[in-house]
Amino acid sequence: MIRIGITGTDTGVGKTVVAQALAAGFRRRELCVVAMKPIETGVSFDSPERDGALLARAAGASRPLSLVAPITLAQPLAPLVAARESGMTIDIAALDASVRQASEGADALIVEGAGGLLVPVADGVSFDGLFARWSLDLVIVASNRLGVVNHTRLTIAAARTAGLRIRCVVLNNLTPQPLDTSVAGNAGLIAELENVAVIELPWLASPRDLTHAATQADECGLISLLLSP
Ligand SMILES: Nc1ncnc2c1ncn2[C@@H]1O[C@H](COP(=O)(O)OP(=O)(O)O)[C@@H](O)[C@H]1O
Ligand SMILES: [Mg+2]
Repeated sequence: MIRIGITGTDTGVGKTVVAQALAAGFRRRELCVVAMKPIETGVSFDSPERDGALLARAAGASRPLSLVAPITLAQPLAPLVAARESGMTIDIAALDASVRQASEGADALIVEGAGGLLVPVADGVSFDGLFARWSLDLVIVASNRLGVVNHTRLTIAAARTAGLRIRCVVLNNLTPQPLDTSVAGNAGLIAELENVAVIELPWLASPRDLTHAATQADECGLISLLLSP
């Protein structure tokens, strides 16, 4: 079974777009896909456009939202802080059970974190620990612009400290034109310095178009990379 955790160097860098493209690309290869957003903040459970709902649709809604995107917190803050503000504690054992149950019988499990790898979830638990508990290999999404080499290397260092296997870095192009002159060399430099696969995802005119996203994920080599052992 393919088990992927999607993290980012920041919020807003394209984790959900990459997760949707992956889910759609895997489905095109006729895999049974489960896509999860275990904890989402700044939304209510029923928000139709929230990450959990987008991921569930991209995966073909084969599992109920209450299983694949079980925890929402109203405050747009890190999960630990949003939970504290609403007077609750995120139940890690319950999340473990959701991940186990949701992934039963699936060929591919895709889990999107919230924000970056060291975003805190509960006392002593951040996303690096959750991804390790759930045996997820990491896809690191980053915005392709000046600064991304540093941001990506910091995330890679944290992932390696946590014992996570890094499948690839996705350098995401969030604009139709390159953001700056670093863009041409960022992928090569990260690959050279860190010995990781680096994939460039182009700007998508309609990022919600799953057919197009699946095609782009295929053409940039992301799908075949993640289908290889
Ligand atoms: N490759 C892309 N092409 C066009 N727009 C993109 C691309 N990647 C992300 N976006 C847009 O950028 C915004 C942030 O992306 P999102 O996937 O929600 O980030 P994250 O999940 O990391 O917070 C969204 O509006 C999304 O549609
Ligand atoms: Mg997201």
